[in-house]
Amino acid sequence: MIWNLGSINLDNFYHLAHLPGPGETITADRFHQGLGGKGANMSVAAARAAAHVAHVGAVGADGKWAAERLLEYGVDVRHIALVQVPTGHANIHVDQQGENNIVLMGGANLMISEQIIGGALAEAGPGDFLLMQNETCGQAFAAQTAKTLGLRLAYAAAPFSADAVMALMDQIDLLVMNAVEAAQLQDATGQDISDLAVDDVVITLGAEGCRWVSNKGKTDQSFDAYSADPVDTTGAGDTFTGFLIAGLDRGLPMRDAIDLGMRAGALMVAREGTADVIPDLKEIQDHDFS
Ligand code: RIB
Repeated sequence: MIWNLGSINLDNFYHLAHLPGPGETITADRFHQGLGGKGANMSVAAARAAAHVAHVGAVGADGKWAAERLLEYGVDVRHIALVQVPTGHANIHVDQQGENNIVLMGGANLMISEQIIGGALAEAGPGDFLLMQNETCGQAFAAQTAKTLGLRLAYAAAPFSADAVMALMDQIDLLVMNAVEAAQLQDATGQDISDLAVDDVVITLGAEGCRWVSNKGKTDQSFDAYSADPVDTTGAGDTFTGFLIAGLDRGLPMRDAIDLGMRAGALMVAREGTADVIPDLKEIQDHDFS
């Protein structure tokens, strides 16, 4: 079982000829909206990977649709609170190469109370996963509660804050980062990834694949990426993480869970959008990755 303390956003996508520079005004070629938030994307990915995932979060009155959509996608939404603050949103710029930049408004994601988190984790049991990213409040309380209850803590360090990771470092079992975030963490701590007090670190490398540093097993392994035709990289990392944790939750060895996540990520970069277009296990099985 996966308990995901995570953000829920309305994603506004602006497709542009290029990403705007400072002071530049640019007209979008296309616009569309969808369900997003790193947290919601990971919950949907885990559900698409056949995990039982409960999302712990909050929306405003304008975001009831988002909780309903998560439910339709197979996510347990009983611990999503309705709060008196607008739902979070993200304005996402996507260029013609599929690269993006994102502006976030946290909104309800920053109003998740300890009561909501505690109420959810009261149902959790030893061996369950607590998954978190850095788009909500309540991370320290959730981590402490989860460790007391014997849960495994997986942390996706995005949006990156060295302070946020370091505050949780003693409690994290599995840390997921991209290469830029890993370099930032090394700068901030002065420590090599292999010296961190975290059992497993998974570093996504985009087209270069992925690296798994097992500090417990004293191994450092690389995995090649599957070929992909990127049109929009938004949410691909979240999809990877959701599938990775779902794989581990159902007992796959790390290598196989990483492989599953990389296949899901390769399909995801070829799609425009976020939570609404995350592939499921059947699509991954049916796809020819050779
Ligand atoms: O990682 C992609 C996500 O980042 C988007 O869905 C957006 O909401 C932001 O949280």
